[in-house]
Amino acid sequence: MKRIIFSFLIITTLFITLFATGKRDNKSLLDELKASAITQIAQNQTLFNTNKDGSVTEKGLTPEWFGKASYKQFKTMSKGTTWKIRDLTENYDVRQLGEALSIYLAAARIIIARSQSKINTDADGTKNPNNFYPAVFGRLTAAEFQKRTGIDIKQTTTGKGMGPRNKKYNTADSWEKMALNKFETLESTRAFGFGENVTESGKNYYRFMYPLEIKNTCLSCHGNPRGSKDISGYKREGYEIHDLRGGISVKIAQN
Ligand code: HEC
Repeated sequence: MKRIIFSFLIITTLFITLFATGKRDNKSLLDELKASAITQIAQNQTLFNTNKDGSVTEKGLTPEWFGKASYKQFKTMSKGTTWKIRDLTENYDVRQLGEALSIYLAAARIIIARSQSKINTDADGTKNPNNFYPAVFGRLTAAEFQKRTGIDIKQTTTGKGMGPRNKKYNTADSWEKMALNKFETLESTRAFGFGENVTESGKNYYRFMYPLEIKNTCLSCHGNPRGSKDISGYKREGYEIHDLRGGISVKIAQN
């Protein structure tokens, strides 16, 4: 018991020192997002693994597996960017950070999208919706990351005229509407997103948005027929493959 308290004290001290001195490099901010994502998986393990009848089946959706799979996906998706993961060290460029964070969250969401049938199917093969969808995972991860770092990440959309499903968290503000519009009208912003320095209420921020495209795995919920209900009970928006579904928006305060 003493040892546990002692380790806890050391960890807390390290944590406080790190945050109080602000000595946190870019790499650790990316790691922080990864940790926030993995935490969400860990916290939802019983949800994934418990069948309707209360029995437990290990489905292989472990935090370790998820951490590796999402990082691999991130590395693939960040090929072609102007930076390398190893560049994300001290004295980071806020543009690279914005891009890296949003690509990582997009990558992790794709892994959750691919795991939907596993998440929502019981051991005996029956459907058992667990309400753990890519965007729900993204929202929980973003909230955890915000708590740890103060950096805002949000998933947003125009919903093909239907607005966001989750109006409370995912409604686009005016900067986000502008960025989504750029993706639709300016082809060059479509690959790796769009970012700029802005001043809002007298404070300086770097804002960045990464485009989210509709992939095959998204269609069961966001595809056709428009207006019909998906497994989560929301109305399908009628998107088609490669349509712009929305974006991941990052807002980082600057001095
Ligand atoms: C199993 C159903 C399901 C699948 C598959 C799915 N989504 Fe969603 N999506 C949802 C639900 C439910 C919400 C509302 C989430 C919330 O409560 O925040 C949502 C919300 C979103 C949002 C936030 C904007 C809004 O409407 O609130 C985006 C962006 C999004 N989804 C993109 C995607 C993309 C891209 C994929 C594929 C990679 C995907 N989704 C796959 C069910 C799904």
